Amino acid sequence: MPTYIEPVFRPPSEARSLIFQITIGCSQNHCAYCGMYKMKRFALKPVEEVFAEIDGIPGRYRLHVDRVFLADGDALVYPFEGLCAILDRLAATFPNLTRVGSYASPNSLTTKSVDELRMLREKRLRIVYFGLESGDDATLAAVNKGFTAEKMAQEALKAREAGMKLSVTAILGVAGRGRSLDHARGTAAWVNRVNPEFFSLLTLFRRHNEEFVDTLDQCTRRELLAEAKELLAHLSPQRTILRSNHVSNFLELAGSYPKDRERLIASVEEAVAHLEGIPGYLDEVPEYGEEYY
Ligand SMILES: C[S@@+](CC[C@H](N)C(=O)[O-])C[C@H]1O[C@@H](n2cnc3c(N)ncnc32)[C@H](O)[C@@H]1O
Ligand code: SF4
Repeated sequence: MPTYIEPVFRPPSEARSLIFQITIGCSQNHCAYCGMYKMKRFALKPVEEVFAEIDGIPGRYRLHVDRVFLADGDALVYPFEGLCAILDRLAATFPNLTRVGSYASPNSLTTKSVDELRMLREKRLRIVYFGLESGDDATLAAVNKGFTAEKMAQEALKAREAGMKLSVTAILGVAGRGRSLDHARGTAAWVNRVNPEFFSLLTLFRRHNEEFVDTLDQCTRRELLAEAKELLAHLSPQRTILRSNHVSNFLELAGSYPKDRERLIASVEEAVAHLEGIPGYLDEVPEYGEEYY
């Protein structure tokens, strides 16, 4: 059976997936806003241990497994041969397996060529989750992402070229007040260029990132909504599903580009008009945080 070193994170869309933790933590672990893996020392779980966990799933459950998610934070960094062996073992063990997913940081994508990604895709690694955070270089440098927007686009496009589905996240508020609108426009331009299948917005929240959040000139709700509207207005990807359904968001958005562009913009305008009715609410900084581990 799988064993986990907590905490284990997975994207909302992997809620029904069986999770194998093939890496522990994040190989990079230096993004200023991200406290997800700060308490873990990065390690690869040996292939034999992963095999034992896969083999340990009782036969009566195996037919029910159609999706697997590989944790932790950038599991795509796992060495190519080992990853192939794990994917082969998963396919051999779960006859109804249709899709394997994994977090894939820009750093982890640099470790794989397009041909290797294509081979991984053939072995059912069908979707990778990629943290863009911002398409604005000044913001990326300020949060210590370690990559420019251009380099991230090149890495993300490798996954697309290999036929993998790409799910990208960006963070409202991560640029602070000073670069809020540049962040919005740069992020929209990046998404327009890369055309990921999925694009999700989170809102910056507190989770083992006090140093970063406390030194940032944080956006109020009004400014966050203006940032979201600027982003939506500049977005024009060919076919991208947009979501902002993470618990950190105080406005939920859901739609497809290009079809729902006007409706999405209108829903932000309606939210502002409605929230004006709550005295002071729009001029506060949202204080969502998670500190349970
Ligand atoms: C596991 S990472 C995504 C995959 C990969 N590690 C990467 O960075 O590309 C999870 C994502 O959660 C989001 N996230 C992490 N900490 C956050 C915070 N404090 N506030 C808002 N979003 C956050 C970021 O979008 C981050 O990319
Ligand atoms: S955002 Fe991704 S790459 Fe950056 S520290 Fe968090 S898990 Fe690692």
